Amino acid sequence: MKILLIGAGGMLGHDVAALLESKCDLTLSSIDYIDITDEAKVIEVLKREEWDVVVNTAAYTNVDGAETNEAMAFEVNGEGAGNLARACNAIGAKLIHISTDFVFDGASSIPYTESSQPAPLSVYGGSKLAGEEAVMREDGDYIIIRTSWLYGVGGDNFPDKIISLARDRNILSIIFDQVGTPTHTLDLAEAVWNLIDSKADSGIYNFSNEGVASWYDFAYLAVELARKEGIVLKLDTLRPIRTEEYPTAAKRPAFSVLDKAKYKRATGAAIAHWTKSLGAYMKERWTTKEKP
Ligand SMILES: NC(=O)c1ccc[n+]([C@@H]2O[C@H](COP(=O)([O-])OP(=O)(O)OC[C@H]3O[C@@H](n4cnc5c(N)ncnc54)[C@H](OP(=O)(O)O)[C@@H]3O)[C@@H](O)[C@H]2O)c1
Repeated sequence: MKILLIGAGGMLGHDVAALLESKCDLTLSSIDYIDITDEAKVIEVLKREEWDVVVNTAAYTNVDGAETNEAMAFEVNGEGAGNLARACNAIGAKLIHISTDFVFDGASSIPYTESSQPAPLSVYGGSKLAGEEAVMREDGDYIIIRTSWLYGVGGDNFPDKIISLARDRNILSIIFDQVGTPTHTLDLAEAVWNLIDSKADSGIYNFSNEGVASWYDFAYLAVELARKEGIVLKLDTLRPIRTEEYPTAAKRPAFSVLDKAKYKRATGAAIAHWTKSLGAYMKERWTTKEKP
């Protein structure tokens, strides 16, 4: 199977590349090879070879920055996704496109399914929703994966930031009233492959690790696990705070847990709990990379 991975230089792209390398004939593309906002270039490169699948992990991902860079966010996340979907349709390739829990407003108290009504609170969420709509409008062979709270060795991420701060500070204040599910990019990479391999029908699929956490819970466990790995931290107090005590440019959903039943039915695969996956990540992080 010939697969083209767009966004290979990003955090998720790093782990998707590592996994797919052993499964298929894989070509990696960074922004220098294909800028997804350049429709002519997208079509020209996609027509060069007979790709079976194009996986798009590229996006404008600066959630707060998008509030003042709306045009850029919509160009990359909306039109860019549409360009890829059109080009895939033209060559008969399947498109796997990554979206986000930030398409929801967080007003629900039960996990969001694929048919729950999106209502983004932020420009970033709106631009990702525009991307989903652009992909679906082309009506080709596509899979959209909505996911949440990613971390992995291929990019800057929340647990690394927490540990780096915890080495220098006695007190850290972390939001407890936003609830979702942390997701290891390695597990999401597996999910991308499982959906390809099981020839899942076109449509939207939710994928995150199992379980529910606040940012406070996420930070708390990262600190515990780092100590278990022998990292010396200055931190003595992790203080739970409300969202309004840590104002950000973009509004984020208070609740964004995703229902994964459709993914499990389609692939037959089990999903790891976020606490287990974070444990695996922290172990790998401290043994294979320079400590932050
Ligand atoms: N991170 C999260 O917590 C999270 C949560 C839910 C969903 N997601 C989604 O998951 C996907 C992967 O996220 P990530 O965290 O891995 O993102 P990331 O680390 O920011 O990587 C995104 C990649 O896209 C590239 N890119 C940006 N604009 C491009 C363009 N016009 N053409 C081609 N490539 C372009 C970037 O290249 P440069 O670095 O050179 O600009 C970067 O390599 C995205 O769709 C994101 O929306 C992320």
